[in-house]
Amino acid sequence: MAKAIGINHVALVVSNLEEASAFYEKEMGLEVIPAFLFDYPTAFFKFNDTQQLHLTEWDDSYSFRGHVCIIMDDINPIYWRMKELGIIDTTPWGKVRVLPGGNLQMFVRDPSGNLLELSSPPGYELDPKILEDELFKEGIYVSGRNDYRGYKSKDATLYHS
Ligand SMILES: [Fe+2]
Repeated sequence: MAKAIGINHVALVVSNLEEASAFYEKEMGLEVIPAFLFDYPTAFFKFNDTQQLHLTEWDDSYSFRGHVCIIMDDINPIYWRMKELGIIDTTPWGKVRVLPGGNLQMFVRDPSGNLLELSSPPGYELDPKILEDELFKEGIYVSGRNDYRGYKSKDATLYHS
């Protein structure tokens, strides 16, 4: 049986390609790479040798809760910068948290409204001031729905080494 083996790229629809490109290049530190010769506004960026981010400008709508999770190598300064920009969004999934396993979890909106989850890698040393900040809350997000369907475990992790 065929098996899906990885994610090559995530394509995000943006409302303004130049504004979005500046955000992903300057704030997220992504490197721009050539895109195919499409007849519509698009820009490609690389996370690494096997994963890319594609931005494409269309008149479209964003997802309120659906998101892409991006691993940041140094999330402490990113946290304060995102807070300074006022783009940390606590409405869909609650406040900034530390997931079981120790990874910081925070959600931000890009300039087009796409929701990004930013994660710290395993072993990263968090700035203790973040844990005392007004936007931080302990424990995993509780929706109040009391619907426990799904495959769940207290041993769940974002990082399988
Ligand atoms: Fe997520």
